[in-house]
This record gives sequence, C-alpha cells and structure tokens, in this order.
Amino acid sequence: MKDKCILVTGSSSGIGNAITTRLLDLGAKVVGVARDHKKSIIKNDNYIKYTFDISDLKNIEKNIKLILNDHLEINGLVSNAGYGEFGPLENFSVDQINNFISMNLTSHIVITKSLLPHFKKTKKGDIIFIGSEAGLSGAKNGSLYCSSKFGLRGFAQSLSKDVASNNIRVSIINTGMVRTGFFKNLNFLPGDDIENAISVDDISNLVANILTLNRNTVVDEINLSPAKKVVKFK
Ligand SMILES: NC(=O)c1ccc[n+]([C@@H]2O[C@H](COP(=O)([O-])OP(=O)(O)OC[C@H]3O[C@@H](n4cnc5c(N)ncnc54)[C@H](OP(=O)(O)O)[C@@H]3O)[C@@H](O)[C@H]2O)c1
Repeated sequence: MKDKCILVTGSSSGIGNAITTRLLDLGAKVVGVARDHKKSIIKNDNYIKYTFDISDLKNIEKNIKLILNDHLEINGLVSNAGYGEFGPLENFSVDQINNFISMNLTSHIVITKSLLPHFKKTKKGDIIFIGSEAGLSGAKNGSLYCSSKFGLRGFAQSLSKDVASNNIRVSIINTGMVRTGFFKNLNFLPGDDIENAISVDDISNLVANILTLNRNTVVDEINLSPAKKVVKFK
C-alpha cells in the first residue's frame, strides 16, 4: 500500500474514518476531507486533513485543485461522505430536496469530475463509491435517500465504462446498515444484536482489497447485508 495515496471524503467519522485508519495501517497515505476533523482521533504523519463543506458544489473544483497542488501523488478516491434523510416526500421543502441531492449525489459526481483529468494524465486511478442497499431497491420513506443512491450507482456503472481504457477502475459498495453516527438524527437504527449491523472493519478491509487487486481485475459492485436485518425505531 506504500504506493497508494487515497483521497477519502467523510474521513472524520464512521465508515470513512474506518477506511482511513485501515489504509494508514497498511502504509498508504490518506488525504481526508470533512467539515470537522476534531471528531477523529487518528494521528499519523501520512494522514493529511482538509476541511471543507462538500455540499458547497461551486467550490469543489477549486478545493480539489488546491489538494492536487499539494498532493500530485493522489491515485485513488473513496467517495464516501453523506447523510440520511427519510420521511414522506411532501415533508421536504424544495431547498431541502436540493441540498440533499447536492450532497448525496451531485457532490460525488463533481468531486470525481475534478479528479478525473489527474487520473487520466497519470494513466492510473481507483474510484470507490460508498453506496447503499438503498441503491438496489426502493424503501418506504426512502424516496430521497434511495434516489441519491440509485443515482450514485448508475453514475458508477456508466463512469466505469467511460474510463476503463484509461486504467481507471470504478467500484461501488452497496452496504446495508452499519452502526455509525449516520443514525444520530434519524428515527431508526440497527437492532441491538451484533448480527444486525455490518462492521466498519469489514467495509474497510474490502476497500483495501479492492485497491490491491491486480490491475487486470475490477470489482464493479459489492452488496453487503447484515446477517440478520433488524430495524429498531427510536
Ligand atoms: N451507516 C449506514 O448504515 C450506511 C448504510 C449505507 C450507506 N451508508 C453511507 O455511508 C457513507 C458514510 O456514512 P457513515 O455511516 O459513516 O455516517 P457518519 O458516521 O455520519 O459519517 C459521515 C461522514 O460524512 C462527512 N460529511 C457529511 N456531510 C458532509 C459535508 N457537507 N461536507 C464534508 N463532509 C461531510 C462527515 O464529516 P463532517 O460531519 O465532519 O463533515 C462524516 O465524516 C454515507 O454516504 C452513507 O450514505 C451508510
């Protein structure tokens, strides 16, 4: 992994934090993006933190340029940052809908667009999206969240075909419930049993495996579910 320098969005907590920890443990360099890095206890000279709000779409290209100026060695992206919002559609204002889709779908597209010229120039790149089971089938009260994750999955599948000839690999991990801060502001969470949630370590190991496969192999999609799915309402 010493030859890897991976940009991880949402590195300050949850799945992104676990991925960052694992990649650093394996000797990679990680460039992490989040709004509040104080949440994370990671201390490692190979971890470089940038603080910006990814939902600020107009400034993404500028921010990625700044990062690339400092770290031309970046050769991978884990596009992970996101949040959940659930409920009947008419409960959301147009602004809330726009903000939600901006953060959970458009930001992934714009970050990828900003990094692609660099990956094409260096003739190498790995892009891993953290999708969701919500990108595989619609769910009650999930009209917004499922829209963003279905969209992300369609984006990943299409992008993969567009960039394969440039030695750029695109993968998406469609995960079921993982015990993270994701549920803090939601009215549900995974059941209490260990089997009711996927472990962040399993996701971070998968990401490490995807990144270290021979370059003639591409992982298109991985779907993950907890051994026993139980949704607990608060
Ligand atoms: N947990 C689950 O059950 C589950 C299931 C399927 C998919 N996912 C997906 O997994 C991804 C990570 O979620 P998680 O479970 O790890 O939740 P989490 O613990 O809440 O982490 C979310 C991360 O995204 C970052 N983030 C959120 N809004 C941001 C913004 N505007 N600008 C920059 N960074 C932002 C947060 O950092 P700051 O707050 O510091 O900015 C944080 O590091 C999300 O895309 C989520 O949809 C989660």
